[in-house]
Amino acid sequence: MNLHGKDFLTLLDFSEEEILGLLDLAAEFKEKKKAGIRHRLYEDKNIALIFEKTSTRTRCAFEVAAYDLGMRVTYLDPVSSQIGKKESIADTARVLSRMFDGIEYRGFGQSIVEELAEYASVPVWNGLTNEFHPTQVLADLLTIREHFGRLKGIKLVYLGDARYNMADSLMVGCAKLGLHFVASAPDAYFPDKALVEKCQGIAAKSGAVLEFETDPVKAVKDADVLYTDVWVSMGEPAEIWAERIRDLAPYQVNDSLMTAAGPHAVFFHCLPSFHDLKTSIGREMGERFGRTEMEVTDQVFESSRSLVFDQAENRMHTIKAVMAATL
Ligand code: CP
Ligand code: NVA
Repeated sequence: MNLHGKDFLTLLDFSEEEILGLLDLAAEFKEKKKAGIRHRLYEDKNIALIFEKTSTRTRCAFEVAAYDLGMRVTYLDPVSSQIGKKESIADTARVLSRMFDGIEYRGFGQSIVEELAEYASVPVWNGLTNEFHPTQVLADLLTIREHFGRLKGIKLVYLGDARYNMADSLMVGCAKLGLHFVASAPDAYFPDKALVEKCQGIAAKSGAVLEFETDPVKAVKDADVLYTDVWVSMGEPAEIWAERIRDLAPYQVNDSLMTAAGPHAVFFHCLPSFHDLKTSIGREMGERFGRTEMEVTDQVFESSRSLVFDQAENRMHTIKAVMAATL
């Protein structure tokens, strides 16, 4: 695997071998970290983290991974730089490339991170756009491989808003690595047709199966992984909560869906999650709509079948692999 100098914008740009290579490298870094073996491969390199949307996991994963590799980090938050307001993406890319060895970007349209990559002369890493969240999917694939010992043929059912970043990226990742991906949502929430066609083409070679099922009980039959995400994503207006709750409530991951899936099924969520009233938005929506939980029940979230914190930890090991491979 030689990914030196390559951007990491979407898994569509990577072969099955390259994705597996990144997972192997992440597993190696994870082992080293647990054994206390230093791996400061990039001492004195500098990276910039641009966040036009908020973050806990992705920012911390990039920072800790960078420090473990011996690098230094500059964080540009959603409001205090010139980006987009006084300086274009193209100019920002050229300025940062003169100072940094790599640039992470989290923001809105995929076209923005693509433009950044086009004008930057150093690797650009996608830390989430509206369309894709590829570093999350790497962490998810590593978590699946750790838990089940394999990836091929694993049945992953995504329930909820299946036309946004998480479902799109999971569909791509599953297509590339030969998993059985099912999106379960109302018709209007299925992924973009052009992306589905592209993934069907990839699936034909990898042996992946892609399915789209409006009935959540049918969808989860014999599933290995039930995956969900927030019903309203960052950057979407608060007014759409009512419509999303109405449309997506039947797809909430609860005990009865876990039971319908079977005893070996596990629960995944990219996080953050609305599974109780312990957040300000959770409380506000709870009061407005008389609900204590949204996309997943607290019972499932807190159960031994929930691997959400393994996924969260693996963000760091996999992001470290992406940086180490591309720098
Ligand atoms: N899953 C994820 O990307 O989390 P953050 O928004 O906290 O980075
Ligand atoms: N779909 C979510 C993912 C968060 C990691 C969002 O974009 O807000």
